Amino acid sequence: LTPERYPVQRLPFSTVSEEDLAAFERIVPGRVVTDPEQLEAYNVDWLRSVRGCSKVLLRPQTSEEVSQILRHCYKRNLAVNPQGGNTGLVGGSVPVFDEVILSTALMNQVISFHDVSGILVCQAGCVLEDLNAYVQERDFVMPLDLGAKGSCHIGGNVATNAGGLRFLRYGSLRGTVLGLEVVLADGTILNCLTSLRKDNTGYDLKQLFIGSEGTLGVITAVSILCPPRPKAVNVAFLGCPGFAEVLQTFSTCKGMLGEILSAFEFMDSECMQLVRQHLHLTNPVQESPFYVLVETSGSSAAHDAEKLTSVLEQMLNSGLVSDGTMATDQRKIQTLWALRERITEALSRDGCVFKYDISLPVERLYDLVIDVRARLGPRAKHVVGYGHLGDGNLHLNVTAEAFSQELLGALEPYVYSWTAEQRGSVSAEHGLGFKKKNVLGYSKPPEAMKLMQQLKVLLDPKGILNPYKTLPARA
Ligand code: FAD
Ligand code: MLT
Ligand code: ZN
Repeated sequence: LTPERYPVQRLPFSTVSEEDLAAFERIVPGRVVTDPEQLEAYNVDWLRSVRGCSKVLLRPQTSEEVSQILRHCYKRNLAVNPQGGNTGLVGGSVPVFDEVILSTALMNQVISFHDVSGILVCQAGCVLEDLNAYVQERDFVMPLDLGAKGSCHIGGNVATNAGGLRFLRYGSLRGTVLGLEVVLADGTILNCLTSLRKDNTGYDLKQLFIGSEGTLGVITAVSILCPPRPKAVNVAFLGCPGFAEVLQTFSTCKGMLGEILSAFEFMDSECMQLVRQHLHLTNPVQESPFYVLVETSGSSAAHDAEKLTSVLEQMLNSGLVSDGTMATDQRKIQTLWALRERITEALSRDGCVFKYDISLPVERLYDLVIDVRARLGPRAKHVVGYGHLGDGNLHLNVTAEAFSQELLGALEPYVYSWTAEQRGSVSAEHGLGFKKKNVLGYSKPPEAMKLMQQLKVLLDPKGILNPYKTLPARA
């Protein structure tokens, strides 16, 4: 798929030789995969939109092994593609050509957890859902949650600076990650795995690696602050007659629910149509142009439910909301969340997906969807809008029966220019990876891009770490 869609030339890295394979076998005995059939899944991304042709996958278990692998690759000028759960949505997680795939799948040990502070230290390959179950047993939760939780790794989450469904409540990983251990391109182990809430000794180096998408170093361990598990969680799923009402619903919820509001997500009627058609989920409320999922997390079940019920009643009476349902038990809560969380899956079953992940002033969030729908007309199968409205983050997705250059041409650069005019971001939370690296300039000035290139050269002088990703190719 890659060459026609994304013209790019292989850089002059070495190719993996028999001697390299023997060296890898000495470093990670029995964990060097060269079987093409086994490699297939690691060469293709979750969306099945990009494909590499790596001939070798390495499965280290320790930071020391990662260090030895990188030391070897650096010396031999072999390119490396760090890979976690391979759920990334911008083509960053798979090789472009024959890069060595370095998987964190076997680096899945919890190192420590402190039940007073809630600070978890673990290896980078721990699966997010497993970590959440681990800390929940101890009355804490992970500060992030996303639809890919069953597969994505915490190292991948940090490397992409994933946002997700709890961002509104617990904020960015830039705040909750307290420390990192990272292996640099030349094999140096950078141990900044501190567990301190406050530490102003010099530059905060870990921030460089958060969101760097495997281009500056391989994250091998993470120290992260987990909030206490909320005692009471309630979810309301509402139908709204228009986007203006969605915005007013958000203002009302912020004003009336205050500190217990923990998520505010929205989806349009086309999203609902897709989750019904492809996943057979049931719409729990009356057919509406828009739907909103409101979650509260607090410490008093009765008090929170009462508060949410009274907000809901008020919004129904004033016509902001045309219909609504509420859940307090875990099963129904999960059913309601599934309607929103599984849109990505429904879209991927609908055909070829063109994905945009945009930050915009919240008042203008849906205007882009309306404009794109009008612009594409019948050329698109579906044009949908959903996302983390509470964070000003729109997911605009377009589906078609098959990939078409003409449709892509109608979407890009239109969507990016539109976003830049609003001073929005062309990647709110998914990163740039391989597919979006050339649109960085829509959201960052040339001086910032130049400094990013300089940092890349400083940390990875041979450019072996995740080449062709995140930064535009240098002229
Ligand atoms: P991968 O996909 O394996 O890798 C992603 C990038 O990180 C690649 O560039 C890779 O090279 C790099 N990387 C991975 N591990 C390391 C490491 N240890 N060190 C250095 N670099 C590394 N994202 C959101 O922000 N919010 C969402 O709500 C959200 N929902 C999603 C829902 C679904 C159904 C899916 C499929 C994806 C979703 N995503 C979401 C995308 C998101 O980026 C990823 O799911 C997740 O953060 C990536 O983790 P991963 O372990 O799968 O990383
Ligand atoms: C989401 O919020 O559902 C994710 O970011 C995935 C997507 O954008 O489809
Ligand atoms: Zn999202």
